[in-house]
Amino acid sequence: MKQFSKRIPNLGTENAFSVIEKAKKFEREVLKPKGKNLIYLQIGEPSFDTPKNINQATIEAVKNNKTHYTPTLGIPELREAVAKKISSYTKINYKKEDVIITAGAKPIIFYMLNALVDEGDEIIIPNPAFPIYGSVTEYLGGKVVPLELKEENNFCLDIKELKKKITKKTKLIILNSPQNPTGAVFDEKLIREVAKIAKQNDLWVLSDEIYNEIIHKGKHFSIASIPGMSERTVILNGTSKTYAMTGYRIGWGVTKNKEMLATLERLACNDTSCANSLAQYAALEAVVGPQKEVVRMTNEYKKRRDLLVKLINDIPGVKCHSPEGAFYLMVNVRKIIDKLNITAEELCDRIMKKANVLILPGTVFGDFGEDFVRFSYVSSEENIKNGVAQIKKYISSIYRD
Ligand SMILES: Cc1ncc(COP(=O)(O)O)c(C=O)c1O
Repeated sequence: MKQFSKRIPNLGTENAFSVIEKAKKFEREVLKPKGKNLIYLQIGEPSFDTPKNINQATIEAVKNNKTHYTPTLGIPELREAVAKKISSYTKINYKKEDVIITAGAKPIIFYMLNALVDEGDEIIIPNPAFPIYGSVTEYLGGKVVPLELKEENNFCLDIKELKKKITKKTKLIILNSPQNPTGAVFDEKLIREVAKIAKQNDLWVLSDEIYNEIIHKGKHFSIASIPGMSERTVILNGTSKTYAMTGYRIGWGVTKNKEMLATLERLACNDTSCANSLAQYAALEAVVGPQKEVVRMTNEYKKRRDLLVKLINDIPGVKCHSPEGAFYLMVNVRKIIDKLNITAEELCDRIMKKANVLILPGTVFGDFGEDFVRFSYVSSEENIKNGVAQIKKYISSIYRD
Protein backbone atom coordinates (compact mmCIF):
# COMPACT_ATOMS: atom_id res chain seq x y z
CA MET A 1 0.00 0.00 0.00
CA LYS A 2 1.13 3.57 -0.70
CA GLN A 3 1.86 5.58 2.42
CA PHE A 4 -0.41 7.97 4.28
CA SER A 5 0.47 11.65 3.99
CA LYS A 6 3.38 13.03 6.03
CA ARG A 7 0.95 15.21 7.93
CA ILE A 8 -1.03 12.39 9.47
CA PRO A 9 1.44 11.26 12.17
CA ASN A 10 1.41 14.86 13.48
CA LEU A 11 -2.34 14.84 13.99
CA GLY A 12 -3.06 14.12 17.65
CA THR A 13 -6.43 13.36 19.15
CA GLU A 14 -8.50 13.84 22.25
CA ASN A 15 -6.96 11.18 24.45
CA ALA A 16 -9.96 11.50 26.75
CA PHE A 17 -11.89 9.45 24.17
CA SER A 18 -9.37 6.57 24.18
CA VAL A 19 -9.30 6.57 28.00
CA ILE A 20 -13.09 6.12 27.96
CA GLU A 21 -12.87 3.20 25.50
CA LYS A 22 -10.39 1.46 27.78
CA ALA A 23 -12.53 2.14 30.85
CA LYS A 24 -15.72 0.83 29.21
CA LYS A 25 -13.88 -2.38 28.32
CA PHE A 26 -12.64 -2.77 31.90
CA GLU A 27 -16.14 -2.14 33.25
CA ARG A 28 -17.70 -4.64 30.83
CA GLU A 29 -15.16 -7.42 31.27
CA VAL A 30 -14.04 -7.07 34.89
CA LEU A 31 -16.56 -5.09 36.94
CA LYS A 32 -19.96 -6.07 35.51
CA PRO A 33 -19.45 -9.82 36.08
CA LYS A 34 -18.88 -8.94 39.78
CA GLY A 35 -22.03 -6.78 39.84
CA LYS A 36 -19.96 -3.56 40.04
CA ASN A 37 -19.90 -0.33 37.99
CA LEU A 38 -17.43 2.41 37.21
CA ILE A 39 -18.23 5.92 38.39
CA TYR A 40 -17.46 8.37 35.60
CA LEU A 41 -16.06 11.63 36.97
CA GLN A 42 -14.12 12.57 33.84
CA ILE A 43 -17.01 13.49 31.53
CA GLY A 44 -16.66 16.75 29.59
CA GLU A 45 -20.30 17.26 28.76
CA PRO A 46 -23.42 18.34 30.61
CA SER A 47 -25.27 15.50 32.33
CA PHE A 48 -28.62 17.28 31.93
CA ASP A 49 -31.14 16.51 29.21
CA THR A 50 -31.40 19.13 26.48
CA PRO A 51 -34.21 21.52 27.53
CA LYS A 52 -37.61 20.39 26.20
CA ASN A 53 -38.38 23.55 24.20
CA ILE A 54 -35.17 22.98 22.20
CA ASN A 55 -35.99 19.35 21.39
CA GLN A 56 -39.52 20.45 20.49
CA ALA A 57 -38.08 22.96 18.00
CA THR A 58 -36.28 20.06 16.30
CA ILE A 59 -39.55 18.15 16.02
CA GLU A 60 -41.23 21.21 14.51
CA ALA A 61 -38.34 21.57 12.05
CA VAL A 62 -38.84 17.96 10.94
CA LYS A 63 -42.60 18.53 10.54
CA ASN A 64 -41.87 21.61 8.45
CA ASN A 65 -39.41 19.68 6.27
CA LYS A 66 -36.41 21.80 7.23
CA THR A 67 -34.36 18.92 5.96
CA HIS A 68 -32.33 20.41 3.13
CA TYR A 69 -28.98 22.11 2.73
CA THR A 70 -28.74 25.54 4.31
CA PRO A 71 -26.28 28.26 3.24
CA THR A 72 -22.73 27.31 4.31
CA LEU A 73 -22.72 30.24 6.74
CA GLY A 74 -25.92 28.95 8.38
CA ILE A 75 -29.57 29.99 8.45
CA PRO A 76 -29.87 33.80 8.59
CA GLU A 77 -32.21 33.74 11.64
CA LEU A 78 -29.65 31.87 13.73
CA ARG A 79 -26.73 34.02 12.53
CA GLU A 80 -28.74 37.11 13.43
CA ALA A 81 -29.61 35.72 16.88
CA VAL A 82 -25.98 34.78 17.56
CA ALA A 83 -24.79 38.24 16.48
CA LYS A 84 -27.26 39.82 18.90
CA LYS A 85 -26.26 37.52 21.74
CA ILE A 86 -22.53 38.20 21.30
CA SER A 87 -23.13 41.95 20.84
CA SER A 88 -25.00 42.03 24.16
CA TYR A 89 -21.92 41.14 26.18
CA THR A 90 -19.11 42.50 24.00
CA LYS A 91 -20.87 45.80 23.20
CA ILE A 92 -19.52 45.38 19.67
CA ASN A 93 -22.17 45.81 17.01
CA TYR A 94 -21.93 42.33 15.47
CA LYS A 95 -24.22 41.64 12.50
CA LYS A 96 -25.26 38.35 10.96
CA GLU A 97 -22.58 38.98 8.29
CA ASP A 98 -19.95 38.47 11.03
CA VAL A 99 -21.17 34.98 11.98
CA ILE A 100 -20.59 31.48 10.64
CA ILE A 101 -22.52 28.49 12.03
CA THR A 102 -20.57 25.23 12.08
CA ALA A 103 -21.07 21.55 12.92
CA GLY A 104 -20.05 21.93 16.59
CA ALA A 105 -17.61 24.56 17.83
CA LYS A 106 -14.56 22.39 17.18
CA PRO A 107 -14.45 23.13 13.41
CA ILE A 108 -13.77 26.79 14.22
CA ILE A 109 -10.44 25.68 15.71
CA PHE A 110 -9.71 23.56 12.63
CA TYR A 111 -10.73 26.23 10.15
CA MET A 112 -9.02 29.17 11.82
CA LEU A 113 -5.74 27.28 12.14
CA ASN A 114 -6.06 26.14 8.51
CA ALA A 115 -6.64 29.74 7.53
CA LEU A 116 -3.47 30.95 9.25
CA VAL A 117 -0.80 28.32 9.79
CA ASP A 118 2.10 27.86 7.39
CA GLU A 119 5.08 25.61 8.03
CA GLY A 120 7.07 26.97 10.99
CA ASP A 121 4.50 29.54 12.14
CA GLU A 122 4.31 29.78 15.92
CA ILE A 123 1.03 29.52 17.78
CA ILE A 124 0.91 30.37 21.48
CA ILE A 125 -1.25 27.88 23.31
CA PRO A 126 -1.94 27.76 27.05
CA ASN A 127 -0.87 24.51 28.67
CA PRO A 128 -2.69 22.54 30.02
CA ALA A 129 -5.48 23.12 27.47
CA PHE A 130 -8.02 21.53 25.16
CA PRO A 131 -5.77 19.17 23.14
CA ILE A 132 -7.20 19.97 19.71
CA TYR A 133 -5.46 23.36 19.50
CA GLY A 134 -2.02 21.75 19.56
CA SER A 135 -2.98 18.73 17.53
CA VAL A 136 -4.25 20.75 14.56
CA THR A 137 -1.33 23.21 14.76
CA GLU A 138 1.17 20.38 14.47
CA TYR A 139 -0.81 18.69 11.72
CA LEU A 140 -0.48 21.87 9.67
CA GLY A 141 3.28 22.08 10.26
CA GLY A 142 3.00 24.90 12.78
CA LYS A 143 4.98 25.10 16.00
CA VAL A 144 3.12 24.88 19.30
CA VAL A 145 4.52 27.38 21.80
CA PRO A 146 3.17 26.29 25.18
CA LEU A 147 2.37 28.90 27.79
CA GLU A 148 2.24 27.34 31.22
CA LEU A 149 -0.82 28.00 33.36
CA LYS A 150 0.49 27.74 36.90
CA GLU A 151 -1.50 26.55 39.87
CA GLU A 152 0.01 29.28 42.10
CA ASN A 153 -1.36 31.80 39.60
CA ASN A 154 -4.87 30.28 39.78
CA PHE A 155 -4.09 28.79 36.35
CA CYS A 156 -4.25 32.26 34.75
CA LEU A 157 -1.67 33.08 32.12
CA ASP A 158 1.38 35.08 33.05
CA ILE A 159 1.85 38.23 30.95
CA LYS A 160 5.63 38.33 31.45
CA GLU A 161 5.87 34.75 30.20
CA LEU A 162 3.61 35.56 27.26
CA LYS A 163 5.85 38.48 26.22
CA LYS A 164 8.89 36.20 26.31
CA LYS A 165 7.23 33.69 23.97
CA ILE A 166 6.60 36.16 21.15
CA THR A 167 8.90 36.02 18.13
CA LYS A 168 8.70 37.21 14.53
CA LYS A 169 7.06 33.91 13.67
CA THR A 170 4.21 34.22 16.17
CA LYS A 171 0.89 34.39 14.35
CA LEU A 172 -1.86 33.58 16.79
CA ILE A 173 -2.61 33.44 20.50
CA ILE A 174 -5.26 31.03 21.70
CA LEU A 175 -7.27 32.16 24.70
CA ASN A 176 -9.81 30.01 26.50
CA SER A 177 -11.68 31.49 29.42
CA PRO A 178 -13.39 29.93 31.35
CA GLN A 179 -10.73 27.35 30.75
CA ASN A 180 -10.77 23.62 30.10
CA PRO A 181 -9.26 21.80 32.05
CA THR A 182 -8.49 24.19 34.93
CA GLY A 183 -11.76 26.11 35.34
CA ALA A 184 -9.75 29.37 35.42
CA VAL A 185 -11.50 32.60 34.47
CA PHE A 186 -9.16 35.30 33.16
CA ASP A 187 -10.12 38.73 34.46
CA GLU A 188 -10.59 41.89 32.42
CA LYS A 189 -7.23 43.39 33.43
CA LEU A 190 -5.34 40.32 32.25
CA ILE A 191 -7.28 40.10 29.00
CA ARG A 192 -6.62 43.80 28.32
CA GLU A 193 -2.90 43.11 28.63
CA VAL A 194 -3.14 40.20 26.21
CA ALA A 195 -4.98 42.48 23.77
CA LYS A 196 -2.24 45.10 24.04
CA ILE A 197 0.37 42.48 23.18
CA ALA A 198 -1.72 41.14 20.30
CA LYS A 199 -2.07 44.62 18.81
CA GLN A 200 1.57 45.59 19.34
CA ASN A 201 2.73 42.42 17.58
CA ASP A 202 -0.03 42.28 14.98
CA LEU A 203 -1.31 38.88 16.15
CA TRP A 204 -4.54 37.03 15.59
CA VAL A 205 -6.54 35.75 18.57
CA LEU A 206 -8.78 32.73 18.81
CA SER A 207 -11.00 33.37 21.81
CA ASP A 208 -12.60 30.10 22.81
CA GLU A 209 -15.57 31.19 24.91
CA ILE A 210 -17.49 27.90 24.87
CA TYR A 211 -17.90 27.99 28.70
CA ASN A 212 -18.70 31.73 28.94
CA GLU A 213 -22.08 31.19 30.57
CA ILE A 214 -20.85 28.62 33.07
CA ILE A 215 -19.26 31.02 35.53
CA HIS A 216 -19.44 30.67 39.32
CA LYS A 217 -17.49 33.74 40.35
CA GLY A 218 -16.46 36.88 38.51
CA LYS A 219 -17.64 37.84 35.08
CA HIS A 220 -16.83 36.73 31.57
CA PHE A 221 -14.93 39.31 29.57
CA SER A 222 -14.30 38.86 25.85
CA ILE A 223 -11.06 40.12 24.32
CA ALA A 224 -13.10 41.05 21.23
CA SER A 225 -14.83 43.82 23.18
CA ILE A 226 -11.58 45.83 23.38
CA PRO A 227 -11.25 48.50 20.65
CA GLY A 228 -9.24 47.21 17.69
CA MET A 229 -9.64 43.54 18.68
CA SER A 230 -12.84 42.40 16.95
CA GLU A 231 -11.04 42.57 13.56
CA ARG A 232 -8.19 40.30 14.69
CA THR A 233 -10.25 37.94 16.86
CA VAL A 234 -12.50 35.02 16.12
CA ILE A 235 -14.85 34.25 19.01
CA LEU A 236 -15.65 30.55 19.22
CA ASN A 237 -18.82 29.46 20.96
CA GLY A 238 -21.84 27.23 20.44
CA THR A 239 -24.69 25.37 22.02
CA SER A 240 -22.88 22.26 23.31
CA LYS A 241 -22.09 23.26 26.88
CA THR A 242 -24.49 26.12 27.67
CA TYR A 243 -27.60 24.31 26.48
CA ALA A 244 -26.54 20.67 27.04
CA MET A 245 -26.64 20.04 23.28
CA THR A 246 -23.32 18.29 22.58
CA GLY A 247 -24.89 15.78 20.19
CA TYR A 248 -26.64 18.42 18.11
CA ARG A 249 -23.22 19.65 16.94
CA ILE A 250 -23.80 23.38 16.56
CA GLY A 251 -21.11 25.97 17.08
CA TRP A 252 -20.17 29.35 15.67
CA GLY A 253 -17.32 31.68 14.86
CA VAL A 254 -17.80 35.44 15.10
CA THR A 255 -15.40 38.03 13.71
CA LYS A 256 -15.40 41.53 12.26
CA ASN A 257 -12.65 40.46 9.88
CA LYS A 258 -14.42 39.93 6.54
CA GLU A 259 -11.52 38.10 4.89
CA MET A 260 -11.28 35.70 7.82
CA LEU A 261 -15.02 35.02 7.75
CA ALA A 262 -14.91 34.36 3.99
CA THR A 263 -11.99 31.96 4.54
CA LEU A 264 -13.81 30.12 7.31
CA GLU A 265 -16.80 29.85 4.96
CA ARG A 266 -14.65 28.43 2.14
CA LEU A 267 -13.15 25.85 4.49
CA ALA A 268 -16.60 24.90 5.83
CA CYS A 269 -17.92 24.58 2.28
CA ASN A 270 -15.13 22.15 1.43
CA ASP A 271 -15.74 20.26 4.66
CA THR A 272 -19.42 19.90 5.63
CA SER A 273 -21.28 22.21 3.14
CA CYS A 274 -23.32 23.41 6.11
CA ALA A 275 -24.23 22.45 9.66
CA ASN A 276 -27.20 20.13 10.16
CA SER A 277 -30.34 22.02 9.23
CA LEU A 278 -32.60 20.60 12.00
CA ALA A 279 -29.94 21.29 14.60
CA GLN A 280 -29.72 24.91 13.45
CA TYR A 281 -33.45 25.38 14.13
CA ALA A 282 -32.97 23.78 17.56
CA ALA A 283 -30.04 26.15 18.21
CA LEU A 284 -32.22 29.10 17.20
CA GLU A 285 -34.74 28.14 19.87
CA ALA A 286 -31.87 27.69 22.36
CA VAL A 287 -30.57 31.20 21.72
CA VAL A 288 -33.84 33.13 21.45
CA GLY A 289 -36.03 31.02 23.76
CA PRO A 290 -36.29 31.12 27.58
CA GLN A 291 -32.91 30.97 29.35
CA LYS A 292 -34.08 29.72 32.75
CA GLU A 293 -32.77 26.18 32.16
CA VAL A 294 -29.28 27.63 31.59
CA VAL A 295 -29.48 29.35 34.97
CA ARG A 296 -30.77 26.19 36.65
CA MET A 297 -27.99 24.02 35.18
CA THR A 298 -25.28 26.55 36.05
CA ASN A 299 -26.52 26.84 39.65
CA GLU A 300 -26.47 23.08 39.90
CA TYR A 301 -22.87 22.92 38.61
CA LYS A 302 -21.87 25.44 41.28
CA LYS A 303 -23.39 23.29 44.04
CA ARG A 304 -21.58 20.26 42.65
CA ARG A 305 -18.32 22.18 42.45
CA ASP A 306 -18.56 23.21 46.10
CA LEU A 307 -19.30 19.63 47.11
CA LEU A 308 -16.47 18.18 45.03
CA VAL A 309 -13.87 20.73 46.21
CA LYS A 310 -14.79 20.10 49.86
CA LEU A 311 -14.61 16.31 49.52
CA ILE A 312 -11.36 16.33 47.52
CA ASN A 313 -9.53 18.54 49.99
CA ASP A 314 -10.32 15.93 52.63
CA ILE A 315 -8.26 13.26 50.84
CA PRO A 316 -4.73 12.85 52.21
CA GLY A 317 -1.92 14.06 49.95
CA VAL A 318 -4.02 15.98 47.43
CA LYS A 319 -5.07 19.60 47.11
CA CYS A 320 -7.17 21.75 44.81
CA HIS A 321 -8.40 25.31 44.54
CA SER A 322 -12.02 26.21 43.79
CA PRO A 323 -12.37 26.86 40.03
CA GLU A 324 -14.34 29.91 38.92
CA GLY A 325 -15.91 28.56 35.76
CA ALA A 326 -16.64 25.68 33.34
CA PHE A 327 -17.21 22.33 35.10
CA TYR A 328 -13.70 21.00 35.65
CA LEU A 329 -11.37 20.73 38.58
CA MET A 330 -7.60 20.16 38.49
CA VAL A 331 -6.35 18.32 41.55
CA ASN A 332 -2.67 18.36 42.49
CA VAL A 333 -1.48 14.80 43.17
CA ARG A 334 2.29 15.47 43.09
CA LYS A 335 2.87 14.30 46.67
CA ILE A 336 1.19 10.97 46.02
CA ILE A 337 2.79 10.23 42.68
CA ASP A 338 6.23 11.14 44.06
CA LYS A 339 5.81 8.88 47.05
CA LEU A 340 4.61 5.97 44.92
CA ASN A 341 7.11 6.80 42.17
CA ILE A 342 4.44 6.68 39.46
CA THR A 343 2.98 9.12 36.91
CA ALA A 344 -0.46 10.77 37.02
CA GLU A 345 -1.52 8.36 34.22
CA GLU A 346 -0.60 5.38 36.36
CA LEU A 347 -2.41 6.87 39.33
CA CYS A 348 -5.58 7.30 37.23
CA ASP A 349 -5.25 3.73 36.02
CA ARG A 350 -4.94 2.45 39.60
CA ILE A 351 -7.87 4.61 40.71
CA MET A 352 -9.93 3.08 37.91
CA LYS A 353 -8.94 -0.48 38.78
CA LYS A 354 -8.91 -0.25 42.60
CA ALA A 355 -11.40 2.53 43.39
CA ASN A 356 -13.55 2.00 40.28
CA VAL A 357 -13.70 5.70 39.42
CA LEU A 358 -12.67 7.21 36.08
CA ILE A 359 -10.77 10.52 36.11
CA LEU A 360 -8.23 11.92 33.63
CA PRO A 361 -4.51 12.52 34.03
CA GLY A 362 -3.59 16.18 33.56
CA THR A 363 -1.16 15.20 30.80
CA VAL A 364 -4.14 14.57 28.48
CA PHE A 365 -4.15 18.39 28.32
CA GLY A 366 -0.39 18.93 27.91
CA ASP A 367 2.97 18.43 29.61
CA PHE A 368 2.28 21.07 32.24
CA GLY A 369 -0.58 18.91 33.49
CA GLU A 370 1.84 16.33 34.86
CA ASP A 371 1.21 17.12 38.55
CA PHE A 372 -2.54 16.86 38.19
CA VAL A 373 -5.62 14.77 37.61
CA ARG A 374 -8.79 16.32 36.19
CA PHE A 375 -12.25 15.76 37.61
CA SER A 376 -15.41 17.07 36.05
CA TYR A 377 -18.41 17.93 38.20
CA VAL A 378 -21.24 17.38 35.76
CA SER A 379 -22.13 14.08 37.39
CA SER A 380 -24.89 13.71 40.03
CA GLU A 381 -24.22 14.58 43.69
CA GLU A 382 -24.59 10.90 44.52
CA ASN A 383 -21.91 9.91 41.99
CA ILE A 384 -19.62 12.67 43.24
CA LYS A 385 -20.04 11.57 46.88
CA ASN A 386 -19.61 7.86 46.16
CA GLY A 387 -16.78 8.34 43.68
CA VAL A 388 -14.71 10.58 45.96
CA ALA A 389 -15.39 8.28 48.97
CA GLN A 390 -14.04 5.33 46.96
CA ILE A 391 -10.96 7.32 45.90
CA LYS A 392 -10.36 8.50 49.48
CA LYS A 393 -10.55 4.94 50.80
CA TYR A 394 -8.09 3.74 48.17
CA ILE A 395 -5.62 6.63 48.59
CA SER A 396 -5.75 6.29 52.39
CA SER A 397 -4.73 2.65 52.00
CA ILE A 398 -1.60 3.48 49.97
CA TYR A 399 -0.51 6.90 51.22
CA ARG A 400 -0.04 8.72 54.53
CA ASP A 401 0.80 12.46 54.87
C1 LIG B 1 -12.34 24.36 25.37
C2 LIG B 1 -13.22 23.70 24.39
N1 LIG B 1 -13.37 24.24 23.16
C3 LIG B 1 -14.14 23.68 22.23
C4 LIG B 1 -14.83 22.51 22.48
C5 LIG B 1 -15.63 21.90 21.38
O1 LIG B 1 -17.01 22.07 21.52
P1 LIG B 1 -18.02 21.30 20.56
O2 LIG B 1 -18.39 20.03 21.26
O3 LIG B 1 -19.19 22.20 20.39
O4 LIG B 1 -17.35 21.03 19.27
C6 LIG B 1 -14.71 21.91 23.75
C7 LIG B 1 -15.39 20.63 24.02
O5 LIG B 1 -15.10 19.91 24.95
C8 LIG B 1 -13.89 22.51 24.72
O6 LIG B 1 -13.74 21.99 25.94
